[in-house]
Amino acid sequence: MERNINSSNINIRYHSKRDFYENSRALNSSSLQKIWEFSLGCGRSLERSVVSTNPNIRAMSTRIPDVSVHQDTSLSLAAKFSAKYVPFSPYDTTNPTVDEEYSLDEVIYRSKEGKLLDVKHDMDALKRFDGKYWRNLFDSRVGRTTWPYGSGVWGKKEWVLPEISDDDIVSAFEGNTYLLRAERFGHEIAMNDLWVKHCGISHTGSFKDLGMTVLVSQVNRLRKMGMRINAVACASTGDTSAALSAYCAIANIPTVVFLPADKVSDAQLVQPIANGALVLSLDTDFDGCMRLIKEVTAELPIYLANSLNCLRIEGQKTAAIEICQQFEWEVPDWVIVPSGNLGNIYAFYKGFSMCKELGLTDRIPRLVCAQASNANPLYLYYKSGWKDYKPVVARTTFASAIQIGDPVSIDRAVYALRNSDGIVEEATEEELMDACALADKSGMFTCPHTGVALSALIKLREKGVIGPNDRTVVVSTAHGLKFAQSKVDYHSKKISDLECKYANPPLQVKADFGSVMDILRKKLSLT
Ligand SMILES: Cc1ncc(COP(=O)(O)O)c(C=O)c1O
Repeated sequence: MERNINSSNINIRYHSKRDFYENSRALNSSSLQKIWEFSLGCGRSLERSVVSTNPNIRAMSTRIPDVSVHQDTSLSLAAKFSAKYVPFSPYDTTNPTVDEEYSLDEVIYRSKEGKLLDVKHDMDALKRFDGKYWRNLFDSRVGRTTWPYGSGVWGKKEWVLPEISDDDIVSAFEGNTYLLRAERFGHEIAMNDLWVKHCGISHTGSFKDLGMTVLVSQVNRLRKMGMRINAVACASTGDTSAALSAYCAIANIPTVVFLPADKVSDAQLVQPIANGALVLSLDTDFDGCMRLIKEVTAELPIYLANSLNCLRIEGQKTAAIEICQQFEWEVPDWVIVPSGNLGNIYAFYKGFSMCKELGLTDRIPRLVCAQASNANPLYLYYKSGWKDYKPVVARTTFASAIQIGDPVSIDRAVYALRNSDGIVEEATEEELMDACALADKSGMFTCPHTGVALSALIKLREKGVIGPNDRTVVVSTAHGLKFAQSKVDYHSKKISDLECKYANPPLQVKADFGSVMDILRKKLSLT
């Protein structure tokens, strides 16, 4: 049988199903089967813009056909995926506010009752494809250059923002970050199956890129639709402003950032400055910046980009899907997330839950939310048996990006932890800095937030809550280079009240052969 599968500039004639398969080796077999069936059933030509005759060479602009199939509603099997805003009201499932819903093309941050919002996907439409189909589809996109699916976030586009046009997407091919085995560090704490998900090895050096690509893409769409959005703004402990300003700069959208003066690292501060954002350094803490930005964005046509905005959760949740994917769709036992405003812990929960509900995996991991003792409102709430929640005034911490006393996503976090048999743990300044230094000695270069998560791991290991063979993933949320000053201070033992027990200061040595030899013999125990 002959089938014509054409594109605007190339018409390829496949003489048989085998011929079609052999000439399309870059695609996985289940996708090919579907495309072939569609082309038979619908008599419709399917697009591949360039097809190389050499299966080892894949042209830059090769499209992934199963996605174009989704986007064509005329095809009988094709699903029309959609998503909308609904109030986040997890505790009261009988609550009639579930009828309240909004299009993603509206600018809205809270429900009528002032609750947080959530992006709700049409799960029935997604369920028309089984877990195997989704696994194959997602796997087929990793590491490719195809726009926008080569991004770890947009490789899961149907689960993120299914209705956005590819042309509106603003992406730096974020995501698909390493999941590395921490063998040596694991050995230090008697663990055999310890992993670190390096979300900070990313475009702007933190996991914030995952959410910001989604938010800025949607803003880009709204602006193209003619909506009056003069700028996008956020309050930030550093990383959000870096990600927002970078993605807005890509799309040429004006950005305003509110930063607490002297409470972000130089590396974080310089990012929005370099990307051309309007940077306001305010004499208050993050919570003060957050209060101000909410008031300002209520008055002016400025779009609010803080994690109150649930679009960001949609991108961040892909890190959880990626973890399952990287373990060949097996679920780890524990995932530990350093947390401040508490959006990310919910994002992980949502990603793992969707994988389970849509049949890609069979369970969800136990989540651990790790907080700095100096900014620990969730930890105190957890310790009270979820009875007594009070915001705190966050004190200075080396983990400055999580120095937040009144977290916006408190309800989301409690929901995530209750439904994952989760735990909250805290880390003092000494514990988090020592954990960083210990991890760095094994070849990592961790940020202090990752230190909070590692220190929570050490404590849970010591208590026997996490077992030696439990597969455990620590989420590293930022690149250590953004927080180099804290390491400089630690290794030069300049931090008062801290022993800095793993400090490794440089040695001042006279520049002569004898002095250098003496020191090497001594330090390396050479006779
Ligand atoms: C490096 C880093 N780690 C952790 C967090 C905490 O994430 P969340 O505020 O979603 O809890 C943030 C964000 O503020 C961050 O920048």
